Amino acid sequence: MATSAAKRVIVFDTTLRDGEQSPGASMNLTEKLEVARALELLGVDVIEAGFPITSPDDFEAVRAVSRQVRRPAVCGLARCVAKDIDRAAEAVAPARHPRIHVFLATSKIHREHKLHKARNEILRLAVEGVRHAKAAIDDIQFSPEDAARTEPPFLAEVVEAVIDAGATTVNIPDTVGWSTPDRFRALIEYLFEHVSNIRKAVIAVHCHDDLGMAVANTLTAVQAGARQVEVTINGIGERAGNAALEEVVMALNTRPDAFGGCRTGIRTELLHPTSRMVSRVTGLVVARNKSVVGENAFAHESGVHADGVLKERTTYEIMDPKSVGLAKSKLVLGKHSGRHQFRQRLKELGFRLPDAAIDRLFFGAFKELADRKKEVFDEDIAALVESESAQTQETWRLCRLTVATATGGMASATVELENVVAKEHRRDAATGDGPVDAIFRAMERITGVSLRLSDYQIRSVTSGTEAQGEARLEARHGDRTVSGRGVSTDILEASAKAYLGAINRVIAMKGRKSKVQGPKSKVKKR
Ligand code: KIV
Ligand code: ZN
Repeated sequence: MATSAAKRVIVFDTTLRDGEQSPGASMNLTEKLEVARALELLGVDVIEAGFPITSPDDFEAVRAVSRQVRRPAVCGLARCVAKDIDRAAEAVAPARHPRIHVFLATSKIHREHKLHKARNEILRLAVEGVRHAKAAIDDIQFSPEDAARTEPPFLAEVVEAVIDAGATTVNIPDTVGWSTPDRFRALIEYLFEHVSNIRKAVIAVHCHDDLGMAVANTLTAVQAGARQVEVTINGIGERAGNAALEEVVMALNTRPDAFGGCRTGIRTELLHPTSRMVSRVTGLVVARNKSVVGENAFAHESGVHADGVLKERTTYEIMDPKSVGLAKSKLVLGKHSGRHQFRQRLKELGFRLPDAAIDRLFFGAFKELADRKKEVFDEDIAALVESESAQTQETWRLCRLTVATATGGMASATVELENVVAKEHRRDAATGDGPVDAIFRAMERITGVSLRLSDYQIRSVTSGTEAQGEARLEARHGDRTVSGRGVSTDILEASAKAYLGAINRVIAMKGRKSKVQGPKSKVKKR
């Protein structure tokens, strides 16, 4: 849909300047060029590539980005002094669309404590700075730093003077993230009412996130008439960061009704890849619950929500995941998941089972596993179904396992098994060279089946300390070899299940289906 010029919002990306100022986020030249390339592809209108006076590296980076980037304007930051402005002008000179961004603080706090200058001096310096920059380049942006805490009449005076001096964009920063949405909107409206030449420049806003209101303040300024938003990928920037590009853009796209149809030129399907790339390059991890680009932004675990999304995505999703570059929403299986979601995932994993069988055979085991693990992965589910299926022909089932070990001493295990054919529970204990040995001996005492272990392996099914462990073993019984497999978050339990699987196979092979073995075991009738 075409956006009229009056509704087109310019996206000024400062990931490479304010974003790079985030503690721990510095990037080398190659990385800056990679980010600049991604920003150009994403469709930003202006790339603020750095602050050239601050170091030779910063100068070189702005120059290199200026040479590389073709469509967006490339901007260099400068304090309101001639040597800064000259250096910025030199750095952006190779750009097809060069811009200089001059800033000078205007608030009382900054005037008195940082600059030690009176209002009239600030006004004079601002005008001189803009004129100096204008002599080098036509596209000049001026920022009255800490504008949000500046007295509105003085701010209006400065804005009017710099526009007269040739500023083509005037940016109103909330430098310390102090403003609130209604206050910031009122400030922008005030400027539109009190600056006579305001229509000759683009009004921009640059909001910091110290109180978590950067995006809200930015959007409220758009409602009041601002037409340039200064943003960063993933919201990185000084202290708590800047307004996040992806959030501002998706708010405008998702709620045209709330923002008068204002749109940007951003290719939103590149938001996720760009976010991941900036996170990789800067080392700044994106919070799981971060809007739009966080890992959980399109993930549903609650049974009610997942069920809703499976029936109709828009019940719980206001944005299409594809519109931000994700293939699809993620239905996370965990303890809040319901039957519908579990069945759906089994089908996606290729298990062709009737719903009733899934519910009867596997859903209980899945819920038990989900209680123990925060997130149940596809590998966990496959392992669960396979191991539960192997148990469908079982004679003995593991009910309870208690193990005690002591360094340098014997281990002991108490095992309770159920004979599912005879419907009896049996419990017995044994000691061994280690906990696994003790468990196996106790099970032999209960079942009366003894095995000679020939191979025994444990591996992790998924990653992390809460991952499921899989035990696989091979054992000899007479002249036969039998195998067993068990999966659990507890590797001793996995081992016990594997051993019991092998015992059940021996029993099945012998055709002894219902006899309860093991005279030493205690019998507990249900
Ligand atoms: O936060 C701020 O005020 C700035 C200016 C340089 C625009 O980053
Ligand atoms: Zn800033």
